[in-house]
Amino acid sequence: MVTVTSTDIHNAALTAEQAARRRTFAVISHPDAGKSTLTEALALHAKVIAEAGAVHGKAGRRSTVSDWMEMEKARGISITSTALQFGYRAPDGTDCVINLLDTPGHADFSEDTYRVLTAVDCAVMLIDAAKGLEPQTLKLFQVCRHRGIPVITVINKWDRPGRDPLELMDEIGTRIGLSPTPLTWPVGIAGDFKGVLDRRTGQFVRFTRTPGGASIAPEEHLSPEQAAARYPDDWTTAVEESALLSTDGADHDQQLFLAGITTPVLFASAVLNFGVNQLLDVLVHLAPAPTARPDLDETPRAVDAPFSAFVFKVQAGMDAAHRDRLAYARVCSGSFRRGEVLIHAATGKPFTTKYAQSVFGQQRTTMDTAWPGDVIGLVNATALRVGDTLYLDEPVTYPPIPSFAPEHFAVARAGDAGKHKQFRRGITQLEQEGVVQILRSNLRGDGAPVLAAVGPMQFEVAAHRMAAELGCPIDLEPLSYSLARRTVAADVEFLDAQRGVEVLTRTDGALLALFTDRWRLDAIAREYPDIHLEPLVAAAD
Ligand code: G4P
Repeated sequence: MVTVTSTDIHNAALTAEQAARRRTFAVISHPDAGKSTLTEALALHAKVIAEAGAVHGKAGRRSTVSDWMEMEKARGISITSTALQFGYRAPDGTDCVINLLDTPGHADFSEDTYRVLTAVDCAVMLIDAAKGLEPQTLKLFQVCRHRGIPVITVINKWDRPGRDPLELMDEIGTRIGLSPTPLTWPVGIAGDFKGVLDRRTGQFVRFTRTPGGASIAPEEHLSPEQAAARYPDDWTTAVEESALLSTDGADHDQQLFLAGITTPVLFASAVLNFGVNQLLDVLVHLAPAPTARPDLDETPRAVDAPFSAFVFKVQAGMDAAHRDRLAYARVCSGSFRRGEVLIHAATGKPFTTKYAQSVFGQQRTTMDTAWPGDVIGLVNATALRVGDTLYLDEPVTYPPIPSFAPEHFAVARAGDAGKHKQFRRGITQLEQEGVVQILRSNLRGDGAPVLAAVGPMQFEVAAHRMAAELGCPIDLEPLSYSLARRTVAADVEFLDAQRGVEVLTRTDGALLALFTDRWRLDAIAREYPDIHLEPLVAAAD
């Protein structure tokens, strides 16, 4: 473990060394695929928690690191996307710092969920062995593809009856266009998980259940001969299927993985802690460490350059009494020391960091230092907006975070007609903070803008903030649109004349055509192929 003293904190070599240790990733999955269970299993292996069994399952889950979301919901306001950080020393002595950023699911799904993926270097795509690719996984994957971030695939719940493994590989290849390159292959069909064939060593890794999956599952490494003697049928099947994969070229290639063309695949049972060691090994040895990030002019800022970070989430109004506002910034370069005065690139003004915190749900601890890949929670960050850059010494501005494809739309009106001014000011503020996207049209007028969101939770946050903080309660009238496509001025008149279609202008000037359903969109696209209908980022289709 490297010991850092305050005198050498701004040392480029040390920064490069610290950056190289970081692995910053998010788990993308559909609700119930096992993300919380896997998070706990990783924490167990890294010895952050002592036992996991008692917390598996929603009913029995006690107050643990991944139980924070409910608590925040109980407080009635926005859901956080925060980072769990822990140190991990691999069996070969490699020392890493893992930053696991949370991507909320279910009803909490919002634009913030997507924004988290702009702050990670890699994603773990968690798939339920019985269900295969599910809608939320696909949506999140589109953002990874757009950003070109490498994806590691984990097929979970192999201890339960599920699909054929080759069929699952086919589905990944054909439905999302990522070539699967399994690193391990299951020995025993889904529901009868004996262990895995390590395709790189040819060995059999045999897993043993522990009571309730509470502790790390013991692993036994057997030679192919020993494996064949113990499980003749299952081992032969695994070896044959692995050979088929090799014939098909489905072997790991680090360059193709980093380029987002292939995805290494692992088989696991998070609840039994099977395959979790293998995932940590992949994170440590194959997942990318933070690298130079291109600025607005596409000039890369090296990780050992002076400090820089960008804000990927702003959470306001968590504590109404204190007007608490937290900005989450991902460090891109250099080192951070709490108390330093940074420069806010958007305004050129100083930003003090006396209250930097590392945040995981309710647990906030003061963060004294941070390095590339880390997430800093900045308290009382009233001036900071999503996408803003902070830096030290050498100025830098990172590109803005894109707006993602909204799927929920509602007209907002001031609850009290006399509060027109507050209404306009409040709506503008929510838009600037990235709480919701705002769409307008001449037809609807300025007093009835359309709020657009990725998840309905964003409307709740908007309504709550307008009433509690911005002095203007609002009425929301849901619209029946569910899809948006970017179009061009020349096609607006035609689209507006179609039934079930309406074109509005987003604040950034983008013209968005809204459709009630896919059927209508497909029909227009088919019948009028010259009409410009461009998918927005993360439209899962
Ligand atoms: P999420 O965060 O992705 O929504 O999923 P979560 O971890 O909460 O897991 C959802 C359910 O799936 C939980 O069951 C959990 O125990 C189960 N699960 C997770 N990983 C595995 C696995 O590898 N194998 C099996 N068999 N189950 C797994 P639950 O129904 O909510 O509770 P309970 O049945 O544990 O009481």
